[in-house]
Amino acid sequence: MTLASSVMGVIFDLDGVLVDTAEFHYLAWQQLADRIRVPFDRQRNEALRGVDRVNSLRLLLGAHADRFTDAEKDAFCAEKNAVYVKLIETISPKDLLPGAGALLAALRETAIPAAVASSSKNARPVLERLGIMNLLQAVVDGSEVAVAKPAPDLFLLAAARLGVPPARCVVVEDAEAGVEAAGRGGMRCIGIGDAARVGAADRVVPSVADITVRLLQDCALS
Ligand code: BG6
Ligand code: MG
Repeated sequence: MTLASSVMGVIFDLDGVLVDTAEFHYLAWQQLADRIRVPFDRQRNEALRGVDRVNSLRLLLGAHADRFTDAEKDAFCAEKNAVYVKLIETISPKDLLPGAGALLAALRETAIPAAVASSSKNARPVLERLGIMNLLQAVVDGSEVAVAKPAPDLFLLAAARLGVPPARCVVVEDAEAGVEAAGRGGMRCIGIGDAARVGAADRVVPSVADITVRLLQDCALS
């Protein structure tokens, strides 16, 4: 069996891997935190990376959670999302992180199927604005599973849609919760960025620009 003919698939996280929406999530949470007078900053925001909306609010409120009713918390999530939705309206193909478009194109050339599996319920509009839907064989977003990362459900659904066994899928992630989800799904994982965050991945690289088809193949077959 040659490498090229080996069955494998690649599942990308979206926020912080293909596009820097992590900054937009941060700005939207910061605006809410300032309004409701809860201490928050970029450093605290790191803990929210890859975490779904409701659990992000829980982390943001921390010990202040008791000050607010459940109805207020629902409204805070909606308020943060309204700001975020406005921010992503500015996204265009030029916001693809360096190397992301080239890697997706190289995967298509090599006939290796690629998916996006994101905790974000806004993943589809972001992908459309980036103009990469045609390079993806499957998309799974946060509205399609009951449990978010670090549960493996998003990645397992993406693997099923690709028709590739989980053991032959490589996940590309920038968040600790995502690396854990890949492991729990029986998948290999390439972590992007700080080893303090993604050190549990099978490989760690500085950015998506450092990932080649060859690295993905090596990872899938190791
Ligand atoms: C993840 C982001 O991809 O999606 C998190 O890393 C975000 O920061 C989560 O909270 C949920 O996103 P959304 O758009 O559904 O609020
Ligand atoms: Mg991410």
